[in-house]
Amino acid sequence: MVETIVWTAEGVVMIDQTRLPREEVYVTCGTYEEVAEAIRSMVIRGAPAIGVAAAMGVALGVLKAGEADLDTQFERICKVLAATRPTAVNLFWAIERMQRLYAAVRSCPPDEIRRRLIEEAQRIREEDIAINRAIGGHGAGLVPEGKTVLTHCNAGALATAGYGTALGVVRAAAAAGRNIDVFADETRPFLQGARLTAWELQRDGIPVTLITDNMAGHFLRAGRIGCVIVGADRIAANGDVANKIGTYSVAVLAKENGVPFYVAAPISTLDLKLASGDAIPIEQRASTEVTQLCGVPIAPDGVAAENPAFDVTPHRYVTAIITERGVARAPYGESLRDLVLR
Ligand code: MRU
Repeated sequence: MVETIVWTAEGVVMIDQTRLPREEVYVTCGTYEEVAEAIRSMVIRGAPAIGVAAAMGVALGVLKAGEADLDTQFERICKVLAATRPTAVNLFWAIERMQRLYAAVRSCPPDEIRRRLIEEAQRIREEDIAINRAIGGHGAGLVPEGKTVLTHCNAGALATAGYGTALGVVRAAAAAGRNIDVFADETRPFLQGARLTAWELQRDGIPVTLITDNMAGHFLRAGRIGCVIVGADRIAANGDVANKIGTYSVAVLAKENGVPFYVAAPISTLDLKLASGDAIPIEQRASTEVTQLCGVPIAPDGVAAENPAFDVTPHRYVTAIITERGVARAPYGESLRDLVLR
């Protein structure tokens, strides 16, 4: 399995997802500012993976901090990491977990504080892999035999500490002997589907076919797709799901064609403080990601371009939400709350 992110004596090491699939290059972040920049520039991306990166960034920041006024430095480290990307709630969940631990150990000797924070960040990483395997276990039975799974963006090993959420379900179904294949939307503008999903499934020997985003409706109507499985960046209390831009269109097309639309996500992606998806902050990225393709301009100079990185799929389009604690179905207000309390 690909190592998305690991803690080492030299710093936080990540596979550079901006250079895949052409180059398999690893980046070492030696400071928390470098971790923040890696999240912002999407060297590392995907909700659970940026949560792990943020936790490791906090630990790294404290490791490198001077001993004077550690509380102020800690606050600054958390603030810088929290300002990297706004939509995936896992980022804030991981920073809050590190903050709770810091509050509990801040009166310990500095070496003890550093050791505990490093251990916690590594634990978040290990737990994430176990969580994804559990999501896979709960979701595998939902994948129809002999059909194609359509996915959007990359919710695989690269988007997590390992194994993946949506692709974790695919991996678990394939491991259980299901005869399935995957259609991967290319996912304009950042091309996570073309570059990352296609790469990691091909590497695993799971049959994958790349399609452009605007082909999804055609294949959903043709009857070949048995189900859609995507990940999530934030899920509101009513079951509305924020995920990569284009997910909403796929969900509407799936419902129109009677194809189940599943969301696979850890409990840490739930944000039950938000009543609905309307309150989820949507990241706006640089217009050059739209006007250029791999750095090459494809539009007239000076043309206006919008680039919302995520959209919200209303819960009525979501057949079920697959978590590590089980599968939630409508009404989500109750089923998600039950899973959190379980
Ligand atoms: O902008 P990205 O690549 O970070 O967006 C990623 C997604 O939208 C994923 O589907 C989501 O984070 C779930 S990853 C398990």
